[in-house]
Amino acid sequence: MSDPQAPVPGPSASPTATNRLWGGRVARGPAAIMEQINASIGFDRRLYAQDIAASKAHCQMLVRQNIIPAADGDAILAGLDHVLAEIESGGFAFKTEHEDIHMNVEARLAALIGPAAGRLHTARSRNDQVATDFRLWLRDAIDQLDGALRALQAALIAKAELHVDAVLPGLTHLQPAQPVSFGHHLLAYVEMIGRDRGRFADCRRRLNESPLGAAALAGTPYPIDRDLTARLLGFDRPAANSLDAVSDRDFALEFLAAASILAVHLSRFAEELVYWVSTAVGFISLSDAFTTGSSIMPQKRNPDAAELVRAKSGRVIGALAGLLIVLKGLPLAYSKDMQEDKEPVFECVDSLALCLAATTGMVEDMTVSAARMRQAATAGFTTATDLADYLVTNLGLPFRAAHHVTGRLVKLAEERGVTLDALPLDALQSVEPRLTDAVYAELTVEASMGRRTSYGGTAPERVRAALRAARERFL
Ligand code: ARG
Repeated sequence: MSDPQAPVPGPSASPTATNRLWGGRVARGPAAIMEQINASIGFDRRLYAQDIAASKAHCQMLVRQNIIPAADGDAILAGLDHVLAEIESGGFAFKTEHEDIHMNVEARLAALIGPAAGRLHTARSRNDQVATDFRLWLRDAIDQLDGALRALQAALIAKAELHVDAVLPGLTHLQPAQPVSFGHHLLAYVEMIGRDRGRFADCRRRLNESPLGAAALAGTPYPIDRDLTARLLGFDRPAANSLDAVSDRDFALEFLAAASILAVHLSRFAEELVYWVSTAVGFISLSDAFTTGSSIMPQKRNPDAAELVRAKSGRVIGALAGLLIVLKGLPLAYSKDMQEDKEPVFECVDSLALCLAATTGMVEDMTVSAARMRQAATAGFTTATDLADYLVTNLGLPFRAAHHVTGRLVKLAEERGVTLDALPLDALQSVEPRLTDAVYAELTVEASMGRRTSYGGTAPERVRAALRAARERFL
């Protein structure tokens, strides 16, 4: 099943054994191809720990409610622990004929403890079981992702603290706009990641309801205690509607939506890394640890990790689109289509874990060339806005008039091939006679940056305060 090279058996191949767990009705076993398309054990084995935890909670509840005998309950609990140990030691034989993780575990339990194992499935169905397992799994995955997101924020903040005074040419339309602190720029990503963490936390809050006890779709006549199983599994409450409980996959969609936005953030940052590290730009460099060579061009240092982070967003967004399409038009309640919910989520979690680790690694690894950044920040007339502001503040010009005067000075500087602050005073005065020497101090990139002290602005004193606040808010 998990071997892509395995030949697909023809439709006539027909194993003889009927399925022991649901085969009472059927006279003969499924066609091999039926078994193959039906089986999910190739991927849902990843749910084993959650499946066993949910079974243990269910079993405890069945005993507590006098639905199954305590002695059978004890045997089941011990047997489930045994199965768990077998799986974790690598000694468990997953079988395609047992279809999925739920039946693999139960079949092994039956082999270990005999007929008492058959009592475990009282008052539940694989429909509520899989919904429970998957929520538990995703809850853990979100907690792990949150740790990785926090680590990325920590790396960004630490790097930003080192480079508050480094002047980066801030861009709009990829054109030089205004000088900004490199630390300020990195802090923008800290904010984005902070919102990502918030979205995952929201998703976690809403997913934390227990489907267990919804049974196949309608609830159960047994006197179960859904509050107890919910509590035992760390859920906030049981899901209120049995039909919704077994058919809802909003939690997976919400997760993939939040994941897609995160992947887009990582992709944007990765693109900046690729740009900054390029030879033409050279604002940062990455060590051999995060670059690769070329098999033909000996001089190359390619930012492959950043490029792959940039690209992986495609998979994550694809996972969201894919699952939306799987679920679209599905009637209540459970349909087997829903078995297709797991692989996109698993793959997305794996991709994000990899991308986050690589991105954090690159942030820690990067060496910043403040001199190259400053040089680029002084080109492109990035302090033209400051000159206009100076004309407004010191000479009382309306901003539109100041904008016009500055535009003429930029044109003059362009014609002479110099920066604004390299225009001699007589040239400045040829456009605006009231300008004096005092203007030059205002035209440096440091002065420009330092003046932007508004809340959320790039002045280094602001950025230092923002860094302190970010540590408080996020770390
Ligand atoms: N492997 C199934 C899934 O992932 C479990 C639920 C099967 N339920 C059923 N009625 N066949 O969705």
